[in-house]
Amino acid sequence: MCFDVEKIRHDFPMLSQSVYGRPLVYLDSGATAQKPQCVIDTVNRLHSTMNANIHRGVHYFSDRMTALYEEAREKVRRFIGAASREEIIFTSGATASLNLVAYAWCEKFLHEGDNILVSEIEHHSNIVPWQQAALRKGAELRVLPVDDEGALRLDLLGELIDARTRVVAVTQASNTLGTRPDLPTIVEAAHAVGAITVVDGCQGVVHGGVDVAALGCDFYAFSGHKLYAPTGIGVLYGRREVLESMPPFLSGGDMVDKVSFERTTFAPLPLRFEAGTSNFIGAVGLGEAISYVESLDAEAVMSHEQTLLEYATERLLSIDGLRIYGTTANKAPIISFTIDGCDHYDIGMILDKTGVAIRTGHHCAEPVMHRFGVNGMCRASFGLYNTTADVDALVAGVQRAVRMLK
Ligand code: ALA
Repeated sequence: MCFDVEKIRHDFPMLSQSVYGRPLVYLDSGATAQKPQCVIDTVNRLHSTMNANIHRGVHYFSDRMTALYEEAREKVRRFIGAASREEIIFTSGATASLNLVAYAWCEKFLHEGDNILVSEIEHHSNIVPWQQAALRKGAELRVLPVDDEGALRLDLLGELIDARTRVVAVTQASNTLGTRPDLPTIVEAAHAVGAITVVDGCQGVVHGGVDVAALGCDFYAFSGHKLYAPTGIGVLYGRREVLESMPPFLSGGDMVDKVSFERTTFAPLPLRFEAGTSNFIGAVGLGEAISYVESLDAEAVMSHEQTLLEYATERLLSIDGLRIYGTTANKAPIISFTIDGCDHYDIGMILDKTGVAIRTGHHCAEPVMHRFGVNGMCRASFGLYNTTADVDALVAGVQRAVRMLK
């Protein structure tokens, strides 16, 4: 399989648009990725020809839709290397997945005086649910700091993880710095004291994927929309025995076995954690996005994204006063930067007028801003459809912004 980025770009209709008369240069895939035509077509086709609620009807389309939904679950299972389909819970996104664990697991297993460890570079989805759980239970939220390059201070793990640590929650790839923490070391340290490990795979699953069984984490969360799938669908992987030990989280239809006014019994995994009508068409859309990604040469995609990262880093650093945050080796294709004397928001606005879409602000990771002493950054994040011409447009736009702002 060869990797032809120009051919790939034709699969993404959004990329052929113009903004203010300039071709769109989309560099905000870290916030949400564009969708290939096959995903758009699948979702449209299902709404037109197959829409019927799952797990409920005996009628033809309900049956067909249920089969497609469960096939999508199997695709996700294979894609992330889970041992069984019971370990794959469909949610509305990574935030819902992480909240599910922070409520259901912590409800039963987190106690006063326990502690939860997160890293300093998590985005809010992997901070706030734990902070809230700690508040509810009288537990402590601990933070593993990073060094100036944005690498986690693993030398402090021994101090921060102790016998009262119940949860260690960490990103697979930082949405701001691109840092890819050494997960096996963290999982081992957590498991050594009996803590569970929760990995936020929002960016990591897109840039390199995961094998959850090999990694040995207890939970792994990601959103479909950053993986070229529709919005409103996400996944929580949970190790079977850990999921089985948890009480239900949301309750209602589809997660039950028998219901009477006296008593309710619950469905087995995975449905026990899928209360209400799931986003079944979104789940099939996610399956289609996975098939799309799998149809490409994974190594070629990684190498293409790495080339973009290196090229953009080199070209951006040639701009006077520009500082890049997150300089670890092997980082994900995400570049956050500031420029002396220029407000990040103004840079983003000027870039927008040249057709270049980046993210500005705190990137839903305010503690990272505090760590590096800034109130916001510009961020260019790459998808498999970006090109070196996109980088050139970014650099030209930033140079223009600097001329206007300084
Ligand atoms: N967490 C998302 C981002 O990185 C929204 O932009």
